[in-house]
Amino acid sequence: MNEYDSNRVGDLLGESHGFEITSKPEEADLILLNTCSIREKAQEKVFHELGRWKKLKKLKPELKIGVGGCVASQEGKNIISRAPFVDIVFGPQTIHRVPDLYQSSLVNCNPGIDIEFPKTEKFDYLPSPSSKGPSAFVSIMEGCNKYCTYCVVPHTRGHEVSRDKKDILEEVRALVDKGVREVNFLGQNVNAYRDGKDKTKGLGLANLIRESSEIEGLDRIRFTTSHPFEFGQELVNVYGEVPELVSHLHLPVQSGSNSILKLMRRRHTREDYIDLISRIKGKRPGISLSSDFIVGFPGETEEDFMLTLDLVDQIGFDESYSFMYSPRPNTTALEFEDDVSPDKKKERLSSLQNKIKNNANIISRRMVGTTESCLVTGVSKKDPGQLQARTENNRVVNFNASSHSMIGEFINLDIVEALPNSLRGVIA
Ligand code: 5AD
Ligand code: SF4
Repeated sequence: MNEYDSNRVGDLLGESHGFEITSKPEEADLILLNTCSIREKAQEKVFHELGRWKKLKKLKPELKIGVGGCVASQEGKNIISRAPFVDIVFGPQTIHRVPDLYQSSLVNCNPGIDIEFPKTEKFDYLPSPSSKGPSAFVSIMEGCNKYCTYCVVPHTRGHEVSRDKKDILEEVRALVDKGVREVNFLGQNVNAYRDGKDKTKGLGLANLIRESSEIEGLDRIRFTTSHPFEFGQELVNVYGEVPELVSHLHLPVQSGSNSILKLMRRRHTREDYIDLISRIKGKRPGISLSSDFIVGFPGETEEDFMLTLDLVDQIGFDESYSFMYSPRPNTTALEFEDDVSPDKKKERLSSLQNKIKNNANIISRRMVGTTESCLVTGVSKKDPGQLQARTENNRVVNFNASSHSMIGEFINLDIVEALPNSLRGVIA
């Protein structure tokens, strides 16, 4: 989501103010930092980076520095207290006001702070997105009302608001006209997307996927990130109806233990999750699944953790994300005793990650000998004579190609070798 927001601010400044993006901070007139506060480590990085930019501003006093995103939303004017050389503070819902904030900073000595939550207003002010390559993000809803006890998102991004379906479909059509072949519908809680007042779980997203799949030239549809609680049967059914919807689903479970899920206020049990996956697999056998996990949540016993490992085996998760619990401001879990020692957290994280890596390697090896429909995304990072493509389950495949004309196209690749971080393929 931050990547999407950053690109939109870039598009906006380019369109309205003739800014160009430079990769050299010392050349810049304005430097913006789009921040994440999901874990403490991400937040601390913000102040380290700002420390570096302070030196640039000493050399070039007219340089303007802006901080946006969730740390800005959470900290507001505290950003200025810690880093008084910052000129602009904006939140995730006020990215469209950055040009005005910048203009004011040229004439005002006081920093401009705007971290309101004006619903989906920003989409009315942002230019239609530029496309860089064959795959694009499309934000369809923002915010979250779930209040999982560990999570800062409802506090920093505000409550769930959905964009108009008409506007989203228009944006998708415009992207496809510019050569995009794959869209990734984005939202903190994307399957809580509502079209109008109908509250049937998953129906809004299901209909959006159905209608998007009819757009000529759009070949692949993804969505991130969904919540098991909102994953209604309507959305499950789409896996049986829409071939453009990828056979890969990122569905965070966080823990395999019911008592921890309850403490996390995830609103579902381990059994609910397993049942949901089996219904999805009923419609789409062989779908690849990934998840997010938190280890060392307050109260997590060895037994709870074993249940998480056991769930990983039972579901057979592919590449996934896992994190040590990090206490966050304003969250309910902050009141729980953070009683798992840092060493224990590290140990659990590494055994979970080893298990997931092993699973992912097994899945990669199983792919050898199959033919995969892949989207060619660009030139291989390691070998300029090769191109790089992505499978439906997001594996990178490198393959020999005599021309670059395939970039942006779907091709079938025979998978011939599984390497630790990528696959090798040949054109089928
Ligand atoms: N500590 C650790 N991980 C967290 N996540 C969210 N909040 C925290 C926290 N306080 C993880 C969850 C979520 C992912 C985006 O980040 O796994 O799904
Ligand atoms: Fe955070 Fe996701 Fe829970 Fe919302 S559903 S509170 S974004 S973890």
